[in-house]
Amino acid sequence: MRALITGGAGFIGANFVHQTLQDRPDVAVTVLDKLTYAGSRDSLADVADRITFVEGDIADADVVDPLVAESDVVVHFAAESHNDNSLNDPSPFLHTNITGTFALLEAVRRHGTRLHHISTDEVYGDLELDDPAKFTEQTPYNPSSPYSATKAGSDLLVRAWVRSFGVAATISNCSNNYGPYQHIEKFIPRQITNLIDGVKPKLYGAGQNVRDWIHVRDHNRAVWDIIDRGRIGQTYLIGADGEKNNKEVIELILELMGHEPGDYEHVADRPGHDLRYAIDNTVLREELGWQPQFPDFRSGLADTIEWYRENESWWRPRKAEVEAKYAKQGQ
Ligand code: NAD
Ligand code: DAU
Repeated sequence: MRALITGGAGFIGANFVHQTLQDRPDVAVTVLDKLTYAGSRDSLADVADRITFVEGDIADADVVDPLVAESDVVVHFAAESHNDNSLNDPSPFLHTNITGTFALLEAVRRHGTRLHHISTDEVYGDLELDDPAKFTEQTPYNPSSPYSATKAGSDLLVRAWVRSFGVAATISNCSNNYGPYQHIEKFIPRQITNLIDGVKPKLYGAGQNVRDWIHVRDHNRAVWDIIDRGRIGQTYLIGADGEKNNKEVIELILELMGHEPGDYEHVADRPGHDLRYAIDNTVLREELGWQPQFPDFRSGLADTIEWYRENESWWRPRKAEVEAKYAKQGQ
């Protein structure tokens, strides 16, 4: 099988490339990535001789078309992915998440190539903190931020191309991932690298907001299950019953790194900050037989902390710039 992996130099995409080479020797991997601030060739350095890497924009039809033509499946991770950035400048989010997905859809339509579109639980908006409900495949779309609105738009384009043009696509909407190779602008790696630098972790607002954490390897195994056995045209929710509020996560990072639990500071809240995400993973479990292999958040987080300790050369060049950007926002 020839797989075209968009965004394969980013966090989840790079992990997907590594897992695919390890678990699926039958798959020939091509990565298409624009290498924005979020992408890094270093994340693929140890497998560089086992993949084809193309630097390019998914919105560029001339780049995309020949790559899609020679692929059996496109696994579409490429996106602008950070909510805070989308509040500062939504423009690249529209370009990549909407126009880029449109270009891929037109190419898979022309060539009859299978597409799996990676999306987020944020398309459903948020839940109340005291609400026992979780998101299901039937929850109406209600995105809050420019990021989640463009991801919702990209999902709807995929659904329309399935229905109107018979494109062979599936969609997955996953909760918050953690693990190696995550950009240090994101919550967990930002706090780990702050502590390595002797800086206090930064909690937005009161820190009561809940995220449903899943290890990146469990997300990616679900993606392969959907490619292998998912029903064309269907949406699958991916989550591992990992609800925690942000304060709890910071306190656990502090404990695992040998600090006092209260040794963090409150900073400015995110405008429009979604309260709670939670995934009902019944369909994924019952229809595809998926089970998480990393259900223990504490040990997964400890391994992730170890990875950032051992791979300082990977994140160090980005740290000062990321923190300067947050400092301007009072965060
Ligand atoms: P990331 O920001 O770490 O990586 C994105 C990658 O896409 C980077 O390598 C970047 O260079 C590339 N890219 C950006 N614009 C491009 C373009 N125009 N053309 C080609 N490449 C481009 O993102 P991530 O956290 O790995 O997220 C990957 C996907 O998973 C996204 O679609 C995101 O919406 C989705 N998702 C993420 C999470 C999460 O917790 N991180 C959860 C659910 C879903
Ligand atoms: O739910 C899936 C989504 O999870 C993905 O679609 C996004 O691509 C991914 O970035 C993530 O979005 P979040 O906005 O939830 O993730 P982030 O890591 O930015 O923040 C997680 C929570 O932590 C959120 O409630 C904001 C808070 N936060 C974040 C940072 C960077 C802090 O309290 N302090 C911080 O320094």
